[in-house]
Amino acid sequence: MQITMETRPFATLETPALVSYVFEEDNPIQGAVAELDQAAGGALRKLAASGELTGKMLEMTLLHYVAGLAPQRLLLVGAGKREKFGTPELRKVAGAALRHLKARKVDRLAFLPRENDRSAAAVQASTEGLLIANFESDKYKTEKKNSKPVEAADLTGFDEAGRTAVESAIERGRILAESQNFARDLVNEPSNRLTPRMLAERAEAMAREAGLAVAILDQRGIAELNMGALLAVAQGSAEPPRLIVITYTPAPSRPGAPVLGLVGKAITFDTGGISIKPAADMEKMKYDMAGGATMLAVMRVLAQLKPAVKVIAVIPATENMPGGRAQKPGDVQIALSGKSVEVINTDAEGRLVLADGLAYARQLGCTHLVDAATLTGAIVVALSGVNVGVFGSDPAFTERLLASARAAGEKMWPMPLDDEYREMIKSTIADIRNISTSKGGGASTAAAFLKEFSGDTPWVHLDIAGTAWLDEAKPWIASGASGVGVRTLVDFVMNFDSGGPTGK
Ligand code: BES
Ligand code: MN
Ligand code: ZN
Repeated sequence: MQITMETRPFATLETPALVSYVFEEDNPIQGAVAELDQAAGGALRKLAASGELTGKMLEMTLLHYVAGLAPQRLLLVGAGKREKFGTPELRKVAGAALRHLKARKVDRLAFLPRENDRSAAAVQASTEGLLIANFESDKYKTEKKNSKPVEAADLTGFDEAGRTAVESAIERGRILAESQNFARDLVNEPSNRLTPRMLAERAEAMAREAGLAVAILDQRGIAELNMGALLAVAQGSAEPPRLIVITYTPAPSRPGAPVLGLVGKAITFDTGGISIKPAADMEKMKYDMAGGATMLAVMRVLAQLKPAVKVIAVIPATENMPGGRAQKPGDVQIALSGKSVEVINTDAEGRLVLADGLAYARQLGCTHLVDAATLTGAIVVALSGVNVGVFGSDPAFTERLLASARAAGEKMWPMPLDDEYREMIKSTIADIRNISTSKGGGASTAAAFLKEFSGDTPWVHLDIAGTAWLDEAKPWIASGASGVGVRTLVDFVMNFDSGGPTGK
């Protein structure tokens, strides 16, 4: 979808649909919508007075051929209370409007941000909302009914003086949203169409196109490195594993400067292994590579936005399958770091592949680490699909990530990682066991396991098991992969100055 800045007066635009939004306080009609009302001879004021235009969040009022307005349709979206309205709400309003019109086969629209929403941040959020909403999870449908993408959107209400700023905000929003959609496409892929080898190929193609350095390690390379934990998970599958390593190096690159490692879990299908999962909902376990997809999407953005910090993405990719060669409960594995792990439950495989991913990122010289993983069912119980669970070893570093989440409009919440959780994964025969000895705290004990492999390197862990997949569509986004984390992590990297992560 093409998104362009439009300077012509919005009431005179020959477009299939003009979109704006109204607040609960907008009776009588105010601001930019009052200008429309004037052209429409007071029709909108009367509508508000009738009580049918309430401004309630995401209320849709679609009017056709309003006398005095050139656009064929006028869509007024409820924007809720003015004081609660920020860029996250603007992103949703823009997205919900696009999806409302797309369902009515409208192929082009003009979006009019309100009088206070003309900043670069607002233009970027509007652009993101439109592009994220335009993505459908319908790749394998032969007939794409009601979901033909909108072809063009004009951002209207701007004047020439603002062109450079507006166009660069549109560009930034486009880069972010297209990368988020890139992640969503990968996550939506079924496991027969995205094996670890195919994921590595897609990663390599992306990196080459973006101009990023990429190395793909095959099974032999992984074995030569002694990644015993990753190999243990992979050994049950007929599909060989891959380790994807993508590096962004800033120019000029300074020796001794911090290096950020982004480690993403990429289990292209998680059956549970010998500790096999029940059949119900198992098909969803194709999204168990969402952490890896997130990191690939972040790298795709960094190649274009060019931050001043070096970033290395490390993505261990494998299936988790039962089979004659599969690891068995009770097996002891030696991880890359040298630590021995007693594998009590083969379904706790994400922490095994991340253990080696984190250790490898440290070997490569990363001074700071962030991982993203669909790691635990327990985080789904704790936070549902609302918040990403955030764990960390360094409070200031963790707080920086949470600030980026707020800036990017992605909900994330800090979770505890006390020493007591480490106590719960003590093994009697090895250094550590891969699941807890007691009930409860499953997301924290999983994080405690990962912490053992991040050592003294400042590290943040994002458990995205609840948020990476939408069982149902929302007004502003299709069902399926959500692409959560991409925007937060990009904000985090862009504000990570060469002296280390900074405050805002
Ligand atoms: N991939 C799952 C976690 C998951 C659950 C992701 C639900 C998305 C939705 C992970 O590998 C897993 O199986 N975790 C187990 C760990 C348990 C055996 C300690 C879990 O959370 O049940
Ligand atoms: Mn599992
Ligand atoms: Zn898993």
